[in-house]
Amino acid sequence: MVRSASKSDPSRDNIARAYSSPPWWYDIRGLFILTFAYRSTLGRQVRLFGRNIGAHHLEVAIGSGSLLDIILRWRRWKGLPQVRIVGFDYAKPMLVGARQRFADRRGMTLLHADVSSLAFADASFDSANIANAMHCFPDLDGALTEVVRVLKPGGTLAANVLLYPRGPWLLRRIAGRINQWGMRKGILYTPYHHADIRDKLITSGLVMVAEEVCGNAYNVVLRKLPEPV
Ligand SMILES: C[S@@+](CC[C@H](N)C(=O)[O-])C[C@H]1O[C@@H](n2cnc3c(N)ncnc32)[C@H](O)[C@@H]1O
Repeated sequence: MVRSASKSDPSRDNIARAYSSPPWWYDIRGLFILTFAYRSTLGRQVRLFGRNIGAHHLEVAIGSGSLLDIILRWRRWKGLPQVRIVGFDYAKPMLVGARQRFADRRGMTLLHADVSSLAFADASFDSANIANAMHCFPDLDGALTEVVRVLKPGGTLAANVLLYPRGPWLLRRIAGRINQWGMRKGILYTPYHHADIRDKLITSGLVMVAEEVCGNAYNVVLRKLPEPV
């Protein structure tokens, strides 16, 4: 069943407005946030998401597409197969960046959509990635319901989730300040506690394939349960 488009949701629209910066500035800011708020690296993200791209792939909240672009170059370098990709985002300026970036790429469809209300049929995709975005969704339960719905049984979801700051005092304080700024600005909805987000994921119809906590990020790969016979 395809869920019909939901009516305007103020918190979702606020997030879309907050992501209205030009893509080049968004990319620079993103590297800073990755290093000091997530305390993670680009290489780790590329390996996590680059390995979870099936024949028909859904890129959730694609942003300006800069991370996916690096991931696709990495896949080419590794000799991994070309795939069909559908990417979507709710912030139109982000989508403009992604459309320019992938203008010449075959097999790439880019759409304006809200993750909590997807116009795809059930069981459409072999894989889905939610990169740097789960903690931006005001309606995470609705988002997970939709992503799980459009995954094929046996399909996989990879995600990284921003956790409340951990580790040494100074690093915790820096990450905490960045998070507060992100929430004020509206580009971050909330970080999560590890146990809470883990529970939410495994009660949404997914089974754990791999997980790690690294810096302030929870990196996870899950599989949709096959249909009962
Ligand atoms: C931190 S960015 C990550 C973008 C990209 N995945 C990356 O890793 O560079 C978060 C993205 O989530 C998008 N987003 C937030 N809420 C959304 C929603 N309800 N539906 C679709 N996209 C949403 C924002 O517009 C933004 O582009």
